[in-house]
This record gives sequence, structure tokens and C-alpha cells, in this order.
Amino acid sequence: MLLEVSGLDVSYGRTRAVKGADLTVGQGEIVAVLGANGAGKTSLLRALQGAVKPAGGRIVFDGVDLTAQSSAARVRSGVMLVPEGRQIFVSMTVHENLLMGAYLRRDGAVESDIDAIYDRFPNLAQRRDMKASVLSGGEQQMLAIGRAMLGRPRLVMLDEPSLGLSPLFVERLFDLLGELNREGIAILLVEQNTTMALELAARAYVLDLGAVVLEGTSAELMRDEALTEAYLGGGAPAPAQPAAG
Ligand SMILES: Nc1ncnc2c1ncn2[C@@H]1O[C@H](COP(=O)(O)OP(=O)(O)OP(=O)(O)O)[C@@H](O)[C@H]1O
Ligand SMILES: [Mg+2]
Repeated sequence: MLLEVSGLDVSYGRTRAVKGADLTVGQGEIVAVLGANGAGKTSLLRALQGAVKPAGGRIVFDGVDLTAQSSAARVRSGVMLVPEGRQIFVSMTVHENLLMGAYLRRDGAVESDIDAIYDRFPNLAQRRDMKASVLSGGEQQMLAIGRAMLGRPRLVMLDEPSLGLSPLFVERLFDLLGELNREGIAILLVEQNTTMALELAARAYVLDLGAVVLEGTSAELMRDEALTEAYLGGGAPAPAQPAAG
């Protein structure tokens, strides 16, 4: 396993945001984390990134215990987070934002890696010297992913990357995640777009009130639609219907 999380607890004072979560991501695998608002998805990712200190549990990446390590050490190990709301630096240029993604690198290939990102995202290339604030939401998401790629990650974690994007950009985003995965990058994807997330991912976990309440292959969870919906805050549970086929 590339990532092995066991018994992870995250608390904010008396709020227990994540409760004993067990989760794995295999080498080069795409795994989705689903759950309603407040289920603990962001808290889980922030604990994996090192932004919050877990109250309990263990995080092992490629056989190395990262639980007590700093965020920077985790980035060096190849764990990158594309946070909720992208959090690009709007007062910096597109190019400067990309350079930030490589701040821990000491090799000479950063410029050629940035060129590869410009080849992939012509919109970013055209705006390389403009402030990132001029970018559309979709372009900002591409910039955030491009920045993460410059850390040469082995695992990219994304927190609701499709939020606020037009349907066209959502399609492009999911295509991009598939491409990155084919290049060997494992992906841990937090999404509210359940259908697309399950189509992309091999496996998924459903969080409810901080606990993993369902897990399985995407095919299994898609078949279990009523059960999945019950935990995803989609309103009233689906009415009972005769099973089709
Ligand atoms: N910094 C914080 N301080 C106190 N409580 C917090 C903090 N961040 C999150 N929480 C609480 O922890 C719980 C889990 O929140 P979290 O943001 O992890 O959920 P989420 O699944 O990402 O939700 P959303 O879908 O709305 O992004 C919620 O009850 C939330 O109110
Ligand atoms: Mg969240």
C-alpha cells in the first residue's frame, strides 16, 4: 500500500471531526472520499497533509510513519494537497504561483516541468505574467493542480476540485485527473460530485459524522445507490422501489 491510515482521529476542542478512520490508497490507485457537508472530509485531508495534528491514529506512506512529521516533510515524501477553494496566491503571477509548487526542489528540472504544464494548459501559458486573480475559477483550479504537480507528487489529494466549475471544466478536470493517474500518480479525491467521482475512482469511502460508514469498489457503491444517498445528504432517502433487472 502507498498510503495506510489507521484509527485516525481529528478533534477541534470538543468537536470530533474524524473518528477512527481506516483508509488505504494503493500505488497508482484513485480512491474517492464521499460524504455530506460536515462529514469530516476536509479534516481528514488536512490531517494527512499535516496541517492539523491528529488526536490519534497512524499515517504511513510508502512504509514510512508520517504521523509526527511536518507538512514540508510530507511534501518531500510526495504527498501533495490541492486544498478546498484552491488557495492560489491571487496577488502573484501565474508563473510565480507555479514556482511556489517547486519551493522544496533542488534539482534543475523545474523550468522544464513548468514548460510541460504550460503545454498542458495553454490558458495558463498565455497568462503566465498576469496576476492569478484574472483567471477564471476553472483556470485557477488548473493552476492549483499544476502547482501541486511541480512538487513531483506520488499521491495528490484534492478537496472538492469540481466545486463552482462549469460542466465543461468539470469534464476537463476529471480527464486531467485520469491522465495524471495514467502517469503513475495516486489520487485521493474528495468530491460531492458522487457520480463522476465513482466513475473515475477504483474504490471509495463514505464518511458520515467523521466515521467511515461505507467502503467498497466504485462498482459496489454505485449499485448501493440508496445506501450511498442516505449518507450524502441528498435530502429524503429514496423511496423503496422494486429492483430493476
Ligand atoms: N477549524 C475548525 N474548528 C472547529 N470545528 C471545525 C473546524 N473545521 C471543521 N470543523 C468541524 O468539523 C466537522 C467536520 O468538518 P469538515 O470541514 O472536515 O467537513 P467536510 O466533510 O469537509 O464538509 P464540507 O463538505 O462542508 O466541506 C464539522 O462539524 C465542522 O464544523
Ligand atoms: Mg470540506
